[in-house]
Amino acid sequence: MLLGVSGGIAAYKSADLVRRLREAGAEVRVVMTEAAQRFITATTLQALSGHPVRVSMWDEAAEAAMGHIELARWASQVLVAPASADVLARLAHGHADDLLATLCLATAAPIAVAPAMNRLMWANAATQANLALLRQRGVAVLGPEAGEQACGEVGEGRMREPAALVADLAALLVPKRLAGHRVLVSAGPTYEDIDPVRFLGNRSSGRMGFAVAEAAAAAGAEVTLVAGPVKLPTPPGVRRIDVRSAAELHAAVLAALPGQAVYVGAAAVADYRPVEVAERKLKKSDGPATLVLERTVDVLAEVARHPARPRCVMGFAAETHDVEAYARGKLEAKRLDAIAANRVGVEGSGFDAEDNALVLYWHGGEQAFGPGSKRSIAAGLVAWIADRLGPA
Ligand code: CTP
Repeated sequence: MLLGVSGGIAAYKSADLVRRLREAGAEVRVVMTEAAQRFITATTLQALSGHPVRVSMWDEAAEAAMGHIELARWASQVLVAPASADVLARLAHGHADDLLATLCLATAAPIAVAPAMNRLMWANAATQANLALLRQRGVAVLGPEAGEQACGEVGEGRMREPAALVADLAALLVPKRLAGHRVLVSAGPTYEDIDPVRFLGNRSSGRMGFAVAEAAAAAGAEVTLVAGPVKLPTPPGVRRIDVRSAAELHAAVLAALPGQAVYVGAAAVADYRPVEVAERKLKKSDGPATLVLERTVDVLAEVARHPARPRCVMGFAAETHDVEAYARGKLEAKRLDAIAANRVGVEGSGFDAEDNALVLYWHGGEQAFGPGSKRSIAAGLVAWIADRLGPA
């Protein structure tokens, strides 16, 4: 792993990044720009990486040890973090005016950049055009994130945290086991309107389904994500269709179904909706009120018996008790290939939590995933799906 550090205040995070990359098993060699040296010393990065840090093309001793072309060849992955606006511009235009830019031009390894800059520099049309060019050429752009900036402003332009960058890289390096397959995922809650200001919803955050969509895309699948009302960014490379109600989710899933190899029903679809949606806001009265509900279509069950049934249909079950019995019951009743069951009502797992733990049941087997991040569990589920499908 060749880590390029360019000049920006976020360069101080590069020290932590080197440490975490090594913890994740990578051998890291660092190249700094001249400007980066004003923010962090080569000595720090050398101590953490365990290799001499290179800055200049004209360092004869370093060139004799490992020439720049050799270094470009050695790299199996290049990450530029932080990537300043200037470095992005130089990479986009193929400059070779310092060691880092030259290496990026000379390497055959995939390149990822983690931009970090003032929000106005980030928003500038020149920066955005440079990024578009880089993306077009297959450079992975990781971040930036929004928040408070070192310059005191608030906005987009903060470098992604080192831990998140390491996870991003791990996803980029995932073997493309789902290449050539199409995967349809539903995620999030549904909202069933009662009147113009009220609805019936649930606590699903959508994170598990979004993580599955992200992991499937990272594994090379062409992913369509039907998302209920959630506040989550669209995972890279995923086609997203936003819906609100169970009926909208049903229609969107059926429209996208032909040609899908996989359906993962991670959405917490409402089982009931109000029979009538009041056109005007309902007014209270003194006595108790009654809301009459009707069943919605079970999208998952319908997908599993549809003529265009995907080869692999995976459902989710959230249960508070008798998890296996209920989950296996749903596996049979809905004719699924697998069902991922999680226990809800326990701290730190299930709805609205960062982490999760679940058990996947299928005919003749079961496998536990987690406890761990929803991202790592999603990677496990995707690996299981890839095993089941085989190559496209
Ligand atoms: N599901 C669906 N359409 C619905 C309801 C649920 O596609 N109208 C899917 C979910 O996406 C999930 C699975 O079915 O994959 C959940 O199963 P379900 O039996 O509906 O779970 P619960 O709603 O918890 O039902 P129960 O009250 O039977 O436990």
